[in-house]
Amino acid sequence: MIQTLYQRLGEAKGISQLVDDVMAAHLANPLIKTRFENIKDLDRAKRMAREFFGAGSGGPEPYTGKDMVAAHKGMNISEQEYLAATDDILGAMDKNKHDEETKKDVLAIIYSLKNHIMRM
Ligand code: HEM
Repeated sequence: MIQTLYQRLGEAKGISQLVDDVMAAHLANPLIKTRFENIKDLDRAKRMAREFFGAGSGGPEPYTGKDMVAAHKGMNISEQEYLAATDDILGAMDKNKHDEETKKDVLAIIYSLKNHIMRM
């Protein structure tokens, strides 16, 4: 049976683990760590990321956060930073033993968002 991306990511529990690992990777990544160290409410940011990936992969939870342009407006995120964040996400997916097909699907979503996030 064909599984949704949400199911392949391990549903709410798998996505929660993934977001924890991605945030830890961002905070350890010299190219982007200061961006994330300066977030005032890290718990909220992580909750929004869980909702975003849940809703965006076909899960039942609604996304209650800002759209991607509004969320990143005024940050002037560079191409290098975008690639660094993408590497962190794919690295966290490796850590959680997600397969190549699932990584490709996530990468396609991330790539499609670049013009809503970079250089805003
Ligand atoms: C790779 C694709 C990305 C996705 C899917 C994404 C997603 C999100 C989401 C869902 C939020 C929460 C929105 C809200 O507060 O309502 C957020 C906030 C944020 N993002 Fe991104 N983001 C991406 C890339 C990046 C990059 C490359 C950076 C910087 C290097 C970045 C820095 C931030 C920061 C600092 C916040 C927190 C703003 C705050 O609450 O103060 N994001 N992002």
